[in-house]
Amino acid sequence: MTDPVYITDALIAEDIDAYLAQHQQKSLLRFITCGSVDDGKSTLIGRLLYDSKMIFEDQLAALEADSKRVGTQGQEIDFALLVDGLAAEREQGITIDVAYRFFTTEKRKFIVADTPGHEQYTRNMVTGASTADLAVILIDARKGVLTQTRRHSFLAHLIGIKHIVLAVNKMDLVGYDKTVFERILLSYRAFASEIGITHFTAIPISGFKGDNITALSDNMPWFKGPALIEHLEGVEVAAQRDINSDFRLPVQWVNRPNLDFRGFSGQIAGGSVRPGDAVRILPSGKTTTVDRIVTLDGDLDEAVAGQSVTLTLSDEVDCSRGDVIAAADAPPEAADQFEATLVWMADEAMIAGRAYWLKLATQTVSATIQQPKYEINVNTLDHLAAKTLELNGIGVVELSTDKPIVFEAYADNRTLGGFILIDKLTNATVAAGMLHFSLRRAQNVHWQASDVDRDMRANLKNQRPALLWFTGLSGSGKSTIANLVEKKLHRMNRHSFLLDGDNVRHGLNRDLGFTEADRIENIRRVGEVAKLMTDAGLIVITAFISPFRVERDMVRSMLPEGEFIEVFIDTPLAEAERRDVKGLYKKARAGQLKNFTGIDSPYEAPEAPEIRIDTTAMSPEEAADLIIDRLLG
Ligand code: ADX
Repeated sequence: MTDPVYITDALIAEDIDAYLAQHQQKSLLRFITCGSVDDGKSTLIGRLLYDSKMIFEDQLAALEADSKRVGTQGQEIDFALLVDGLAAEREQGITIDVAYRFFTTEKRKFIVADTPGHEQYTRNMVTGASTADLAVILIDARKGVLTQTRRHSFLAHLIGIKHIVLAVNKMDLVGYDKTVFERILLSYRAFASEIGITHFTAIPISGFKGDNITALSDNMPWFKGPALIEHLEGVEVAAQRDINSDFRLPVQWVNRPNLDFRGFSGQIAGGSVRPGDAVRILPSGKTTTVDRIVTLDGDLDEAVAGQSVTLTLSDEVDCSRGDVIAAADAPPEAADQFEATLVWMADEAMIAGRAYWLKLATQTVSATIQQPKYEINVNTLDHLAAKTLELNGIGVVELSTDKPIVFEAYADNRTLGGFILIDKLTNATVAAGMLHFSLRRAQNVHWQASDVDRDMRANLKNQRPALLWFTGLSGSGKSTIANLVEKKLHRMNRHSFLLDGDNVRHGLNRDLGFTEADRIENIRRVGEVAKLMTDAGLIVITAFISPFRVERDMVRSMLPEGEFIEVFIDTPLAEAERRDVKGLYKKARAGQLKNFTGIDSPYEAPEAPEIRIDTTAMSPEEAADLIIDRLLG
């Protein structure tokens, strides 16, 4: 055990370089504290900062950015004032996702993530925990293991935190009684093993009095250690552990300053690498060897997990952003269907069937989630049936991506197994996820290449396939115009097929209604069918309201460039309602028809359709001619 360093202005001012160098050499432990203000969380954090003569993270960052601008005040601060300040800041700052605080001892640097403990802040805790090596689970000695203790432990374990510290706090208020501590230890151990935590370190403390924080306390001679800070100084951090795994470098960018140099840059996500090592590029599977390891400070003989490097390779192999360079004899898998745990972080619930951006390491793909297999009640850990996940909901889902991604199980590699989901319209992060494994069926269902391909089928018909995707409100005139277009094409000896909403809903999609999820599934199926028909060489016309931009774009991305032609039948709501061909608007206004598009269900107009038809300015005949002109012209 070493005493915390007292950082003075003098020390920094005298020899700032030595000071920073000394800090840089120290390893960094990131940890999270779980508990509520009642458990004494602010007091504990205050104690850690106080006893180590705190420097705040931003102050250190400022120092590192400009070593001449010395700003830290190493002054003594009253402990009670400090704790009050932290508590107040936390209470006011509930909108802040996570507060990060920095402190240091002689042996190590620390960043502690401080998140609120209540269930409604689950997403904040997950954010804070995602980079942490260790979690301190706080328990009030007077209260013992509570529901929230279980929730915090479950989440910490779920996020893959390997080191758990059970800090039994407020020991001063139970007379430093050994039996109280042991009783809590026993009940926590039973729970922990149930959820798969095999290892944890329990420490009886008083954050308020300082017992067993920096040094063992005379008040609890029965406790043989370690004290909290001593333990925090000693645990193995993830970066050290990752060095012993297989080599992985997710390529962030290709560095090509001139024709003679081609390097692949990124941060090593596992293992180590030396010039001459045999590597494999994923997902292509090509092998080559490492030529040089280039950094700003010159070439290296070896680089390890956590370092940012540029590799040059001995062969001119294809390799670009998103690829992973890995140990040739132990490469990770690539797959496009997975089981994963999702933590939902957005106010809008998850929508099964909708496509989201999935970001994993340096890869970004489009991903669709199926209905959850089950949701996990974070308090009881029961598995519940669920159709969706709401804010802070945690569930196990199956998901598929539009192209294979290189991955590892989250339990083996956080970088290649952890991902986020992003809403395609708002760009907001909606979920954090952890991959379990790829689904067998993805590996065993291979695409059958047929000898007669789409070009041959189209050539036989003397035409280029296309998909005219009509979108617009109910009663806007989609079916009428689509029908005319098909008639004209037929007369011109073109092979076509018209898929119409009302008709398809009588057959293929008769199981679907008009909820958001059902409409999404409606469009997904129609998109897949239309794609097969273009593969057959047909000119396909679809007439569906298709109210959501994301799904229309999804169909667009399924087809070769230029084949998807979005035709916006632009009839204002008032006009469609005035015509009311099927009498449905009247019904909807009378409340007899729920989720009616334009009334109580949204319509997202196309932003840049290939063709826009203003039905108030031209007749259906004129519209059809215009569309055919654009298609064949
Ligand atoms: S979509 O939204 O899923 O693309 P789709 O085009 O298949 O809709 O079906 C729309 C047709 O279903 C409308 O033209 C109308 O005849 C009928 N319909 C019945 N209920 C509704 C509703 N709630 N909203 C919209 N259309 C409805």
